[in-house]
This record gives sequence, structure tokens and C-alpha cells, in this order.
Amino acid sequence: MTPADDASVTPAEHESSVRRDFRVGLLGHGTVGAAFEAQLAEHADRIERITGLRPVLSGVLTRSRGSFEEILESSDLIVELIGGIEPARGYLLRALRAGRHVVTANKQLLSQFGEELWETAREHDMQLRFEGAVAGVVPVIRVLQESLAGATIDRVHGIVNGTTNFVLTEMARTGMTFEQALAEAQRLGYAEADPSEDVDGRDAAAKMAILARLAFDTPVRLDQVTYEGIEQIQPDDLEYAHELGLELKLLGTAERIGEGLSVRVHPAFLYPGHPLASVSGPFNAVTVESEAITEITMSGPGAGGPQTASAVLGDVISAMIPPASTPATSAVLEIVQDVVSSFYLHLEVADEPGVLAAVAAALAAHGVSVKSVVQKGLGEQARLVMVLHPVLESQFFAAADTISQLEVLRAPPRAIRVIEEEFS
Ligand SMILES: NC(=O)c1ccc[n+]([C@@H]2O[C@H](COP(=O)([O-])OP(=O)(O)OC[C@H]3O[C@@H](n4cnc5c(N)ncnc54)[C@H](OP(=O)(O)O)[C@@H]3O)[C@@H](O)[C@H]2O)c1
Repeated sequence: MTPADDASVTPAEHESSVRRDFRVGLLGHGTVGAAFEAQLAEHADRIERITGLRPVLSGVLTRSRGSFEEILESSDLIVELIGGIEPARGYLLRALRAGRHVVTANKQLLSQFGEELWETAREHDMQLRFEGAVAGVVPVIRVLQESLAGATIDRVHGIVNGTTNFVLTEMARTGMTFEQALAEAQRLGYAEADPSEDVDGRDAAAKMAILARLAFDTPVRLDQVTYEGIEQIQPDDLEYAHELGLELKLLGTAERIGEGLSVRVHPAFLYPGHPLASVSGPFNAVTVESEAITEITMSGPGAGGPQTASAVLGDVISAMIPPASTPATSAVLEIVQDVVSSFYLHLEVADEPGVLAAVAAALAAHGVSVKSVVQKGLGEQARLVMVLHPVLESQFFAAADTISQLEVLRAPPRAIRVIEEEFS
């Protein structure tokens, strides 16, 4: 019988009777918490299609609203985005003991009381997920815990603090002092009003403690990590680095040394070929080294409300689905064949007047415009090397086809795509 057949059941009642809710209690509603609430609502339909459960917010706790007891009672999972040690630690222990899954982005808590929390989660067979605690949206926790679970890791290198990476990048780029670059970071929202834990290395140390814990399967506490910050760096340190072609980064390292483990954070020069040398601005990156996999580098935005909230939401979804999930289809997307690209175009042509104009006209006829061009005489021939503005590839190939038929052409055109995005 459908609701239409039974006049006593309204469509809304019918929907809620067949819908299975997954109740999420949210502790903390600041930068990340507010973004999390918005993303949970925005993605609820898609999550329901993937998991068969509809995520609903069962309550929000801040200093001025909500009751932890009521939220705990009415939730299947608790998201902790308060930060700091207490009351976050007490809330999470109580949630796990009460049989609730937990998701947190709290690096300070995990780097100091992680063992207690993981042990409690194990005892009560609950999930404790924390992707947002290290490197924001870069999925390094999941990669270490799942994808690389079968590899013996020798070393983890990380740029895990976006504030300091931004400050060092600005100092190198502009010659600013540390204080000036930090003020710029605060102005742009890359540094908090009190940036001391970022610039003295303690924030990076907490994250490296967590990464080392996972990479080497051994308890590591924050007070076992040695750390230095970037407050002492002078503009001329960066000038020399520039002359030598080196990049200065606040580098976290966790490495196996003999039977031991070293975990440390300090500024370090990197040669240009190092996978972390080109990570600039507020970005984070982590390189994992192991004999079996050689080296993997993951990079991306290291912080920010929406970015961290997205990692937190990913953890919530993971907690909702049984471990071995198969890919679900939530929408059928059309496969796009024709994409927008920039091209480098190399032409060998006759060295005579009007050639460049003929080539430009052929390009223009297909809506392709030139960004830069270099012309070189080679005796009877000339070489035209140009970089073109982005266009649909079909337009470019039509233009290249027209050009290949020009009488002045001495060899088939050569084209290579140009990746134009700058990631910093
Ligand atoms: N911001 C980022 O980009 C970022 C990136 C990665 C990880 N994280 C981590 O995410 C967590 C949250 O960071 P955030 O930047 O969102 O912090 P935030 O903006 O300072 O928000 C903290 C929230 O927690 C609430 N809160 C504080 N003390 C409380 C208490 N005793 N009881 C109940 N609620 C309390 C605050 O309530 P009121 O509204 O009443 O003050 C506020 O809603 C932290 O662990 C942080 O390390 C943040």
C-alpha cells in the first residue's frame, strides 16, 4: 500500500518511516564547525544515495548553546571541532564509551592523548577518525592507515603548517622581514590573531607526532618531538638560498634510524628537485618514503574552514559505510571528449614576408589567439614557436589542420599541451 492508498498516512510521515537517519552531533561551531554544518546539509541527498542512510544534524554544542548529554543521547556519531584538550578529551572519551563513532580534527588532543582515545575506541569497537587533523584536506591519514598499510615506511617528510609556508614563501618572493610577512599572512587570513603555535613549530610538531604514530606503528607523543620555528629567519638567509637555487621550508621529519625513530621539525633548505621544494604559499604536502613504493607525495590546501570541513565530512561518510565499500553511482555524468587546453605550437616555415600573418589568420579563423611567439630565421626557413591561449581542443586541431595545408609550411606542425595552472 502506498501513502496515496492510505489516507491516514501523510507523505511526510511515510517518508520519515522509510528513511533511515544517521544522526550526527556537532561539538563546536566555529570556522570548521559552521562549514561542516553547511556541507552536511548540502551533500545529504548524495550521501543518502551512497550509504542508504540520511545524515541529519542532531544537535550543536558551543559555549552558549546545546547540552552535551542531550546531543550524545540523540547521536550515532559525534564530530568534535572545539579544539584544545578539555573539554574535548572528556567528551570524546564519553562518546566512545557510550558506543558512538567519533570524528575530530583536533591535532593537539591526538598528539597528547591519542593512545588513550585509540585504546578506548578499540575497547568499545568504535571508529575514531581524524583526517582533518593533519594537512587539512590532503588525505594523508587515510593513505598511511589504509593504502600503505602493507608498506614498511622509512621516512615521512612534511610541510604541515600552511601559515609558516606562506610566511617563508612571501619572505623569499618579496624580501620582506619575518614580521612583515606574518602581518601579511594575518591580513589574508592565513595566520590566526595569535600565531605563536604556528611560527614556533609546535603546531607542525603535533601533526608530525600523529604522522609518525601512524607511519611507524609506535606511540609518539608531542613532548617527544623536537621542534624549532621560523622566527629567527632573516631576509638575507632567503637571499642566499635564492642565489644557491635552494628553497627554505619548515620541514617535519619522522624517520627510522637503526632501531629507533626520530621526529623533528625545523627550517631546512631543499634542493629544487626535492618533491617538497615547489610547495609554496599556504599549501601543505607530505612525502612518504618506503623501499616498496619508493616515494609518494601528496599536497593540497592545509587548512581553512571549508577545506577542513570537507575532510571531516569524508570521515563521517566513511564511518557510515561498512568498511569494504564498492563504488556507488550517485549520478550518471556525461563523458566530456572536447576539453579546453593551451598549446605550444612549433612550425617550420618559409622565411618570407607575410608568413606570420598567414598563420595568425588561420588561427584566428578558428577562434585561437596567440599568447606569445618567438620567430627565428634559419637560412631559407624560419621557425615559429608560439604559445596559444586556452581554447577547446577541437578548435585548436581545426586550426592546426588549416595551418598544415599552408604552402609556406616546410614540415608538419608540432603541438604540445601546456598546463597553465599555477598551484600557489
Ligand atoms: N581552522 C582551520 O583551518 C583548521 C584546520 C585544521 C584543523 N582545525 C582544527 O579544527 C578544530 C576547530 O577549529 P576552528 O578553527 O573551527 O575553531 P574555532 O573557530 O575557534 O571554533 C571553536 C568552536 O568550539 C566552541 N567551543 C570552544 N570551547 C568550548 C567549550 N568549552 N564547550 C563547548 N564549545 C566550545 C566555540 O564556541 P563559541 O562559538 O561559543 O566560542 C566554537 O564554536 C580545532 O581542533 C582545530 O585545530 C582547524
